[in-house]
Amino acid sequence: METLIRAEEVQARVRELAGEIERDYPPDEEIHLVGVLKGGFMFMSDLVRAMSARVTLDFIAVSSYGKATHTSGEVRLLKDLDSRLEGRHVVIVEDIVDTGLTLMYLQGVLRARAPRSLRTACLLSKPSRRLVNVTVEYIGFTIEDKFVVGYGLDYGEKYRNLSHIAVLDGS
Ligand code: IMP
Ligand code: MG
Repeated sequence: METLIRAEEVQARVRELAGEIERDYPPDEEIHLVGVLKGGFMFMSDLVRAMSARVTLDFIAVSSYGKATHTSGEVRLLKDLDSRLEGRHVVIVEDIVDTGLTLMYLQGVLRARAPRSLRTACLLSKPSRRLVNVTVEYIGFTIEDKFVVGYGLDYGEKYRNLSHIAVLDGS
C-alpha cells in the first residue's frame, strides 16, 4: 500500500490542531472532546496528549461502512455517551469527513443536548465527496477521493493500527 501521509506528518499536524483548539477557548474553561468510535480513537488519543489538563473526554459509536468502501447514507447510534453535554464546550473528534452524512447526524444529535458550544475536528476531509454542507472547524488534511486506511481508519476492520495514512490498493 502506498503511503499518503507519513506518521511524522500526522503527529506534527495533530499537535498543531491541539494548539488551535486550545487557543480558541478561554484558558479557564473546560473543553469536552467526544471521540467517534472506532475510527477516531487514535486521533483522539494523540490530540488529548497534546492538550492541557482542562480537557475531558468521552466516546460515542456510530455505524460504519462495514466491509464496503462506499456509504449507505444510513447512520445508526451504536453506543451513546456516558456524560452530559448541557452547558459544556463540546468538540467532536472524528477520523474523516467524506459525504458528511455521519457528521450531519452526529451534530444534530449532540446539538439537541444543549452544549454551550459545539465544534468538530476531523483529521481528514474529502471535499469532492461531500453530499451535505456540514461545518468542520478543524481539518488536519484535505485529500483526494481515494479510500484511505491507517491511524484509526479501517477497511473491513483492518489497518486501524497503522501509524501513517495509506491508500488502499485499487481504490
Ligand atoms: P461520511 O458519513 O460519508 O462522511 O463518512 C464518514 C465515515 O465513513 C468516517 O467516519 C469513516 O469511518 C468512513 N470513511 C469515509 N471515508 C473513508 C476512507 O477513505 N477510509 C476509511 N473509512 C472511511
Ligand atoms: Mg468514523
